[in-house]
Amino acid sequence: MAISFSKEKNTFNLSTKNTTYVFGIYPNGALVHLYYGGKLVGEQDADDFIRYLLRSCSSVSDRFSECDLPMEYPTFSSDVRTPALHIRYSDGTSATRLLYKSHEIYKGKKALSGLPSFYVEEGDGAETLEVTLLDEAQPLKVVLSYTVYESLDIITRSVRVINEGEDKIEVLKAMSLSIDFQSKDFDLVHLKGSWANERHIERVPVMTGGQYVDSKRGSSSHFHAPFVILADKNTDENVGEAFCFGLVYSGNFKGQTEQNSEKILRVQLGINDFDFKWTLYPNEEFQTPEAVSVWSGEGFNKMSQTLHTVIRKRLCRGKYRDSSRPVLLNNWEATYFDFDEEKIVNIARSAKELGVELMVLDDGWFGKRNDDLRSLGDWYPNLEKLPNGITGLAERVSELGMKFGLWFEPEMISPDSDLYRAHPDWAIQIKGRTAGLSRHQLVLDLSRPEVCDYVVESVGKVLSSAKISYVKWDLNRNMSEVGSLSADAERQSETYHRYMLGLYSVLERLTKDFPDVLFEGCSGGGGRFDLGMLPYFAQIWTSDDSDAIERTYIQYGTSLVFPASTMGAHVSAVPNHQVGRVTPLSTRGNIAMLGRLGYELDLGGLSESEKEEVKSQIKLYKEIESTVHNGTMYRLKSPFETNHFATEIISEDGKRVIVVYATVLGRPNSFFDRLYLKGLDEDATYILDGRSYSGSFLMRAGLLMSNDGDFSSKMMILEREN
Ligand code: DGJ
Repeated sequence: MAISFSKEKNTFNLSTKNTTYVFGIYPNGALVHLYYGGKLVGEQDADDFIRYLLRSCSSVSDRFSECDLPMEYPTFSSDVRTPALHIRYSDGTSATRLLYKSHEIYKGKKALSGLPSFYVEEGDGAETLEVTLLDEAQPLKVVLSYTVYESLDIITRSVRVINEGEDKIEVLKAMSLSIDFQSKDFDLVHLKGSWANERHIERVPVMTGGQYVDSKRGSSSHFHAPFVILADKNTDENVGEAFCFGLVYSGNFKGQTEQNSEKILRVQLGINDFDFKWTLYPNEEFQTPEAVSVWSGEGFNKMSQTLHTVIRKRLCRGKYRDSSRPVLLNNWEATYFDFDEEKIVNIARSAKELGVELMVLDDGWFGKRNDDLRSLGDWYPNLEKLPNGITGLAERVSELGMKFGLWFEPEMISPDSDLYRAHPDWAIQIKGRTAGLSRHQLVLDLSRPEVCDYVVESVGKVLSSAKISYVKWDLNRNMSEVGSLSADAERQSETYHRYMLGLYSVLERLTKDFPDVLFEGCSGGGGRFDLGMLPYFAQIWTSDDSDAIERTYIQYGTSLVFPASTMGAHVSAVPNHQVGRVTPLSTRGNIAMLGRLGYELDLGGLSESEKEEVKSQIKLYKEIESTVHNGTMYRLKSPFETNHFATEIISEDGKRVIVVYATVLGRPNSFFDRLYLKGLDEDATYILDGRSYSGSFLMRAGLLMSNDGDFSSKMMILEREN
């Protein structure tokens, strides 16, 4: 049983394969958080967690000790720390004290209304607990939902806030997750970045007081990812305790810690409360996005492996969740806006000769788009460049024996576009205030249903007009001056979240209408790489930085939470267009093969020996694709901490082991490195380049690595013999 309630002890016990989560009903009815971490056997007694905590707070409230206790879903009243929920009532007050009313435990899980979420499948042993809380004075109901995936080892949760009164109320903050830890000496680990530099790992000590990562940009952004990781001081990739909290959401978010001097550490994750206000009229409810929690007692590798599995198996969906996906060639870095039908067909032809399966036409095929100054929103072909339209081009690519894919930026509108001339009010804007341009464009107001309909219809029309098997869905600016011309004053602060609800509805409709199309997400590279996008996009373009060495940092950081199957990774030309570096084709291939392999250059311009090398890369990738997708990944060497990058992936059946080892800079007279593999069967024999090694040797003595100089790399494929 994944969830149990002890009547005698008044405690809820949530248990997965390796973890336990406990909270209880305090004698006055408040919910007190008791424990989250590695598995505890049996029922727990609240007293053992909070007996000595009730001390200093009489100075704050003589009612009871909520300001010192770890709370399950804190509100602002007697608990004067950072609340998870903040409501403004019609009488202008905002104190809330939630008390237990009832609970329900059932098998399976309900989908969240309007928002993407993890799903369950038969055999998961998943159970859901819903606890209903009522405010002691106002007609406010709050339902906390927890789904425990026993075998997959995660807990997901979300919150519904319901107005049961006769007056409207305002939700000012509603976090998806709040946990109070006691006496922990944690580091905060998070993924920071910028354009072409996404998801680099930062680790800092949790301080007394507050710390946060967030986005106020209308999307999860290049700058922080919607995750908070807490780890013991001694935790590394392979040992120690680590917790990861992730949000299934793609808009403004906030992940924060607050540690008081009594060393209660509150961690929260949810929609950013900055400039957020949601009005609830009688009987209306607000649904928060879902948060997921993972615990590992064996370092970051184990934490990532648990996340990778559950993301692949219970968040990603559709045809491409499990099936093989085509190796693609994208023309962006090969041509930018300078192409016509002949050029694209020629690029496709030479790509096909080397084994590429899908030709993707990027930006510039529509309206009058010969640069980035115009035409977003006008989703009909530029007949000067493509005289036979998309239909004709797709047909020619298909005659070559390849699939065809197309770029869109459906959430945007250029001021110089037919769409804007017809509907200037469809852009996100505030009446009387200049709407700031970024990359010469504005954001479409997807908080409006008629705008969502336009996006579905215009994109759908193109997809129905030609043989299109793939869509790259781009987003090249964040929001500013946010307002909706269709909303009244009371609803303006809802625009960010209403936009996300609109976007998710658009993606639901399009992915349902075109189930055979492979959708790849993109946002100026990896500016919206989050759990909210993955139910719709089987893969996401990881970064606009396609340099292999830069990619070792980006892909290493991204893999902390996301599986290889979700990371778009391309071999591009040298000197690299972003950093000017010249790296060997082998290294570009080896690093790209740790994600979804693609090419981003005109392969026709390569030398004959390079063409042969590309051919072998594609052939090899098709052989190892399912291991890369579904295998267990171990990060062996961090480019953040060493001069090397090394990653190992073991196939699901344990029979194949792929290892990629790369050197950032060659060093004179440097020692010969040994690479210690992980997760092997120590008694088994593995064959590498005709030599046999025992698992114990590979893990304990390690493979001797040669010094091959700047940007060198090798991929080693070991086959298990017995
Ligand atoms: C940003 C993307 O990340 C690039 O790959 C390319 O699609 C451009 N946008 C096109 O404008």
